[in-house]
Amino acid sequence: MAASAFNAIRRLGVWKDTIHVGTLESDQTGRLRFTYLDSVLHRPELAVSVRMPMRRTPWEDAEAMVCFENLLPEGDIRSHIAQATHLASKDVSGLLGVIGGECAGALTLWPDMMEPPEPPRYESCSSQSLGELFATANTQHALLQQRTRQAMSGAQDKVVLFKQPDTADRYLLPLDGAPGTVLCKRDRGRFPGLVHNELAGMSLMEAAGVPTAAYSVNALDATVYETTRFDRVVDDTGRVRRLHAEDGCQISGYTSVAKYADPRGPSYQSIMAALRRYSADAITDGERLLRWAIANIIIGNRDAHAKNISILHDLDGTIRLAPAYDVICTLVYPIETMLPLPFGGHRRTTGFTPAMWRVVAREFSVTASYAREIADDVITRVRTHLDDVLQRTVTVAGPHDVLARVGDTVKVECAHFRTTLAE
Ligand SMILES: Nc1ncnc2c1ncn2[C@@H]1O[C@H](COP(=O)(O)OP(=O)(O)O)[C@@H](O)[C@H]1O
Ligand SMILES: [Mg+2]
Repeated sequence: MAASAFNAIRRLGVWKDTIHVGTLESDQTGRLRFTYLDSVLHRPELAVSVRMPMRRTPWEDAEAMVCFENLLPEGDIRSHIAQATHLASKDVSGLLGVIGGECAGALTLWPDMMEPPEPPRYESCSSQSLGELFATANTQHALLQQRTRQAMSGAQDKVVLFKQPDTADRYLLPLDGAPGTVLCKRDRGRFPGLVHNELAGMSLMEAAGVPTAAYSVNALDATVYETTRFDRVVDDTGRVRRLHAEDGCQISGYTSVAKYADPRGPSYQSIMAALRRYSADAITDGERLLRWAIANIIIGNRDAHAKNISILHDLDGTIRLAPAYDVICTLVYPIETMLPLPFGGHRRTTGFTPAMWRVVAREFSVTASYAREIADDVITRVRTHLDDVLQRTVTVAGPHDVLARVGDTVKVECAHFRTTLAE
């Protein structure tokens, strides 16, 4: 039997916020297996994933890999951490043993014989230390990540901080897997104006009628983008509690490498199917997903992949689509222009035609005329608010030439998308 053939060479303890829920094992080949502790089998709300409900039998590699691999950063960041820790990039349990203390959602992973420090540890964070956090070269950044044990997914350098409640500019650096409340990203050389771009992108998404995570610049350093984590709440004692969140790859059963894959990756149909199954209000969330998809297209975001959408489990266990995050007009940079999730059956907007709405209707389980109505509304809203958004971004973050390019791109994308609405 598969279960008995599994020869574990590494074990990690898995906690959901502060509760020890199970053990993640890996074998020599890197296959994973996850087993719930007997002590939590009667508590379905402590499941590590909607796809891995409580059961005594271990969850094998196919499910465990999807749940846990998606917690790791991707691309270059994963490679740098792997290099600095002498692990292979594909060694999921090895990497999570080093940096899996503070992840997206409520899971925190610890090597055998270790436990999350109680209470969690923090150190003060000044504007100078924030500068140093981001100024470090790649290998040093990997070392910092070992000290903080932060494994936020995504492909950009980022730091999670604890913004002290009721203060405008007091932050702490979470150490050793301590939970934080804000996620900070900085500009990178390859993508000039990324911070301005994301501020404007998020603001346009909000204008399109999609709930977004709170976004701003960091109060210590206005060149750093900051978003408030929707998967964290501060309780009455001032302690940060983790809510569980799972991204579109996790809920539709794909590892992170599939995020750009078609047809062997997530699709709007597979995310819609997951929403129908798990969301407490699948109709509203389905429409929100459609609105999000359309808004991303006209904002010029060609990086709206399945990891940039999540579900959020509330404290009472209710599941809803999470607020939008990571909205950037990528068309202003010389990178891939294909849509990561096919829309109306197309991966290139140049292929869009009025006939595609029949396909969109199937993808999102709505009528074609309703989908077109939503599109019309999203375009109108984005176009109406565009100038204000760009102006407000300058007020928040100062001027940057990227904003004019974002503005021009959004105008062109809106006009092109509108042609598909012609009768
Ligand atoms: N405001 C937020 N609240 C909670 N989780 C978030 C928030 N913003 C991003 N995340 C999580 O962090 C991950 C990385 O952030 P993201 O902004 O997507 O970075 P990148 O630009 O590197 O892709 C996301 O995939 C998501 O899981
Ligand atoms: Mg992202």
